[in-house]
Amino acid sequence: MFIHNMKHLIVFVFISAMCFGLNEACNKICNRIVIRNWFDHGQVLLVKCKSNWGRSETSRLVASDDGTSFVVDFTDYPWPFHTRWDCNISYRHDNHTYYYDLEAYHSNYPRHDQIRVWIGKDDGIWFTRSYEPSSSPVWVLPWKLAAMCFGLNEACNRIVIRNWFDHGQVLLVKCKSNWGRSETSRLVASADGTLFVFFFNDHPWPFHTRWDCNISYRDDNHTYYYDLEAYHSNFQRCNQLRVWIGRDDGIWFTRSDDMPVWVLPWKLA
Ligand SMILES: *[C@@H]1O[C@H](CO)[C@@H](O)[C@H](O)[C@H]1NC(C)=O
Ligand SMILES: *[C@@H]1O[C@H](CO)[C@@H](O)[C@H](O)[C@H]1NC(C)=O
Ligand SMILES: *[C@@H]1O[C@H](CO)[C@@H](O)[C@H](O)[C@H]1NC(C)=O
Ligand SMILES: *[C@@H]1O[C@H](CO)[C@@H](O)[C@H](O)[C@H]1NC(C)=O
Repeated sequence: MFIHNMKHLIVFVFISAMCFGLNEACNKICNRIVIRNWFDHGQVLLVKCKSNWGRSETSRLVASDDGTSFVVDFTDYPWPFHTRWDCNISYRHDNHTYYYDLEAYHSNYPRHDQIRVWIGKDDGIWFTRSYEPSSSPVWVLPWKLAAMCFGLNEACNRIVIRNWFDHGQVLLVKCKSNWGRSETSRLVASADGTLFVFFFNDHPWPFHTRWDCNISYRDDNHTYYYDLEAYHSNFQRCNQLRVWIGRDDGIWFTRSDDMPVWVLPWKLA
């Protein structure tokens, strides 16, 4: 009987020392959040993390060749409390701010040896629960564009054209607004999904705003194209997104960060 209780006590003391003493040094790594910056050299990623009990950790990660990272070690709060860490990660590019409010960690009861690795990259946010160098993170979330309709000089709407053809295929893009601005690009398909982005503001009331984009490609000596009405608004709006994607099987579309759907067939010129 005595021995039986002792065993329990020993187990309890061991676990306490390891994980439950919030103000004591955690002998062993209890739980860990890792934020990595896998952008191109020099790009800054801002990180602001907060736990549901008010602890906060912030960092400014500058991308470098050996993959900069920021680590938060913590112990879960004792039962019956849950533990949650929210991290706002953001970066600036071409005068625009992109961000995501991550639920970086959440547990309904105390656990240990948990790891959550979040990685910021050009094409979105990647994730893995393993620290093994061999584990491959997967793409999980797109960046969000921060609202910025504060001044007239700030462009808040966005058209994105993507080339999802096979490697090497060229997609020509010629866009024109109803007020004469034009944007053109020559997108060469690559493994990581080439894209062309431009920003604009709607014209103030009572004008409408329209963007027409001619997208085309050549295959077997034939030219395929579509004259897209890429954007149209009868009144001034902000934070509008239109994503058009060229693929072998036609043109795909989405207005958000959701999965695009097939919308139009190619025309033969
Ligand atoms: C960013 O803003 C600055 C100042 O308004 C401007 O000079 C610059 O051209 C802008 N850069 C881009 C890529 O839009
Ligand atoms: C996270 O950061 C972005 C960019 O700075 C900001 O627009 C957004 O409101 C932030 N989210 C929260 C919950 O503070
Ligand atoms: C494309 O045109 C060239 C020159 O007229 C011709 O030699 C070639 O066979 C054509 N290719 C196809 C796939 O039709
Ligand atoms: C769009 O491009 C195709 C292929 O180059 C061309 O045949 C068509 O006339 C263009 N449409 C307009 C409105 O210019």
